Amino acid sequence: MLLSALPRLVAGRAALRRRLRDALARLFGVDARRIVLTDTGRTALTLLLRAHGVGAGDEVIVPAYTCVVVPNQIPALGASVRWLDVSADTLGFDWNLLDAAIGPATRAVPATRAVIIPHNFGPACRVPDALRARHPQVVFLDDAAHGFASQHDGQWLGTYHDGAFFSFEYSKNLSGGIGGFVLLPEGLAVDEPSAEVGVLDQLRLLATLTGHLLAARCAQAGRVWLALARRVGLIYRSSDAEVAGGVAHPPRALPTLAAALLLPQLAALPAVLRHKQRLAERYRAALSAVPGIRQWPGAAGTHWVRYPFALPQPVADKAALARRLSAASGLAVGVWFDDVIHPAGSFRHGYVIGSAPEGERLAATVLNLPMNVAVACDARLDARLARLTAALTAYLKETAA
Ligand SMILES: Cc1ncc(COP(=O)(O)O)c(C=O)c1O
Repeated sequence: MLLSALPRLVAGRAALRRRLRDALARLFGVDARRIVLTDTGRTALTLLLRAHGVGAGDEVIVPAYTCVVVPNQIPALGASVRWLDVSADTLGFDWNLLDAAIGPATRAVPATRAVIIPHNFGPACRVPDALRARHPQVVFLDDAAHGFASQHDGQWLGTYHDGAFFSFEYSKNLSGGIGGFVLLPEGLAVDEPSAEVGVLDQLRLLATLTGHLLAARCAQAGRVWLALARRVGLIYRSSDAEVAGGVAHPPRALPTLAAALLLPQLAALPAVLRHKQRLAERYRAALSAVPGIRQWPGAAGTHWVRYPFALPQPVADKAALARRLSAASGLAVGVWFDDVIHPAGSFRHGYVIGSAPEGERLAATVLNLPMNVAVACDARLDARLARLTAALTAYLKETAA
């Protein structure tokens, strides 16, 4: 797919972006002016906050179980971050806690102006209408970075609150290497970023994406490629200033390569969704056989970005356990989120340890499995899942002893 995307680049930046915008608008059933393409989900968040006029003196409620690049975008607008714990029952907000956390419209300084609604791992949830009606001064924005093409009661995630931001980064449901977009609510407008991703960064993107695609099919080949790319400075990744320093990402437009890669994935979306649904069912059935493992219901219409499961007790070194389970099973077991503010070691934005016990427990117990089109639902998968459940059972026995 990567190779076939390259000739498509001759259509040019503007045409490819226009086609992608139109295809997304058709999918969501909205006017194409409500779709604004960006280089990342985090840029899309900034554009959405700006479109709503969020700025100095405003407070934004952020789930205390998210990626650092989400809160990073808020102080740069003059607004402040307020952490709110998530519920281990849903991986998202408990609506009663959210209701109580929203400051009163007048007396509070700063006043809550926006809430970022998590849809961690992909399942779409909906803020109760009564809660929204009680806080008319607040906008509810979907962090749909994990939930592209998920539905809630037959409605696309992103279409029923006050706007949404999506990500097309390597690890997401559809991938352009990097990329994202805003789905604006009716009546709001915002310009596409005028800055472009530079040529060197586009080369890094190509090299890094190639490594990830190789790794999805042959872990060893992917590792070798990525090690070589790292050596020559061709890995594309978030800057240290963003991850460790909490600095906002500068808004840029969607790279042309990303648009060329995303168009065929979008055209194949129904088949991709069917495949991932089957994969999730296989994972669910296999993990159900391991006593003590927690899973979350995915309503019909859930497009999982990765398939999460939780261990009964916190794990001191989740990365080591993920490596052990990956080696035993041949499936790429993942660790995110490995902290309330992922990745561990990220800028804290004032987070006080202990203030989000459920988020902290999820960070210490949740692992995930790949929802990857390259993972076929076949006998090989059954064998890998049998090895995974055996390795998990052995781990649980050791830790219970
Ligand atoms: C929950 C969540 N929201 C938003 C983002 C930001 O997406 P992007 O990397 O495209 O900026 C991410 C991360 O990668 C994420 O995990």
